[in-house]
Amino acid sequence: MRFLLVLSIFAVFVTAFPLFDLIPDLRSTFNSLINSSPFQPDNIKDKVIKLGPDEFKLVSEAEKLNLKRQNKNFIDITNQIPIEQAIEQGLINAPTNSIWDRLFLLGAKQVKTLKKTIPVYAYPTKVHYENEVKGLYEFIDIDLVFKKLTKFSSFFSRYYKSPHGLDSANWLYDEITSLVSNFKEIETLKIHHDGWDQYSIIVSIPGEVKDKVVVGAHQDSANLILPNIMRAPGADDDGSGSMTILESLRVLLKACEDGSFKPYNTLEFQWYSAEEGGLKGSIDVFTRYSDQNETVVGMLQQDMTGYTQGSIDEGVEPHFGLINDYTSVELNNFLKLIIKNYNKISYLETQCGYACSDHASALENGYPSSFLIESEFKYTNKYIHSVMDTIDRLDFDHIKEHIKLTIAYAYELSLAKKLY
Ligand SMILES: *[C@@H]1O[C@H](CO)[C@@H](O)[C@H](O)[C@H]1NC(C)=O
Ligand SMILES: [Zn+2]
Repeated sequence: MRFLLVLSIFAVFVTAFPLFDLIPDLRSTFNSLINSSPFQPDNIKDKVIKLGPDEFKLVSEAEKLNLKRQNKNFIDITNQIPIEQAIEQGLINAPTNSIWDRLFLLGAKQVKTLKKTIPVYAYPTKVHYENEVKGLYEFIDIDLVFKKLTKFSSFFSRYYKSPHGLDSANWLYDEITSLVSNFKEIETLKIHHDGWDQYSIIVSIPGEVKDKVVVGAHQDSANLILPNIMRAPGADDDGSGSMTILESLRVLLKACEDGSFKPYNTLEFQWYSAEEGGLKGSIDVFTRYSDQNETVVGMLQQDMTGYTQGSIDEGVEPHFGLINDYTSVELNNFLKLIIKNYNKISYLETQCGYACSDHASALENGYPSSFLIESEFKYTNKYIHSVMDTIDRLDFDHIKEHIKLTIAYAYELSLAKKLY
């Protein structure tokens, strides 16, 4: 208490006497003292993050944001493995820097460790529904995708902790339910998360078996300068992927409607919350699936599907970026087959590091996953995480290729039977 009192007297003093402005060093020292003080909730080390397959760290919210600003990705597993257990298992050291950090150890709950082994499935080695799938492509409505993405990127931000992020989730949920409302058997679920308001959304088209084929994208956006107060249109990251899978769903429903398509495996479309907070929505979704012993035979993430200027500027033809680190080799091979048969563009293999998008949450829980991005990683959109991630920079012909890919992937894999 005495420390607080001294701080507040000092604060009043500094504010009241402009003389202090003549001594900028003193003022900035004071500011950094305030900003790094344990009394700032953002500076309490109460988050367990995973920075690599065997690299865990106890950090504060402010440190998480700084890692994101340095393009260092991680999974925030605080809700999955509480601090006390992470310490017990030797994953992290007990915090020692302040009494406040240590207080957070009280009240920790018990949760099981995350799984690691990934089963290998026998994915199709040739396509079986070329006429049916290509017949659906005429229903792809790129003007509609443009309209929907215009709306989705017009929210002030879709930051998962801001009220705008809840508004955008509600808009998305209404869009989805209006598409599927005529289908009695199709379920749309809001997945609420512990600690923030923006929920994840799952559409489930039941198959003959419960094994799941999953298509995913993240609905949240973030301005990494000041996420709580700055605009984040997130047109490419990941408005583009969110609208890519929304349009793919809309088109596939045409085939559900006329009875020509009924999945064998259960087909799910998932829009995750809080990817920008360290895959928090998707790690919750897939940890729940793992806890419920659900089987996911393949998860495909699409995060950033619309930017080609980076490639064009370097004289490289637009192409897909097929992520080949921390993804499933077998599922990637299946994707290559789909691209070869269904797309007019090709792919380049590329890497994005550990936990670079939500497919990592599936993999973390023992589910094979892939990630297809707009181009080789070095040519991807450099305007993301800022006010400049806008729709005018995007190439809708390219988004259409991602939609064609998604429809083909969903159709072929949800009808694949002999996977074991
Ligand atoms: C999942 O499987 C494990 C091991 O077979 C079993 O102990 C557990 O009860 C199952 N959980 C559910 C929700 O079915
Ligand atoms: Zn993203």
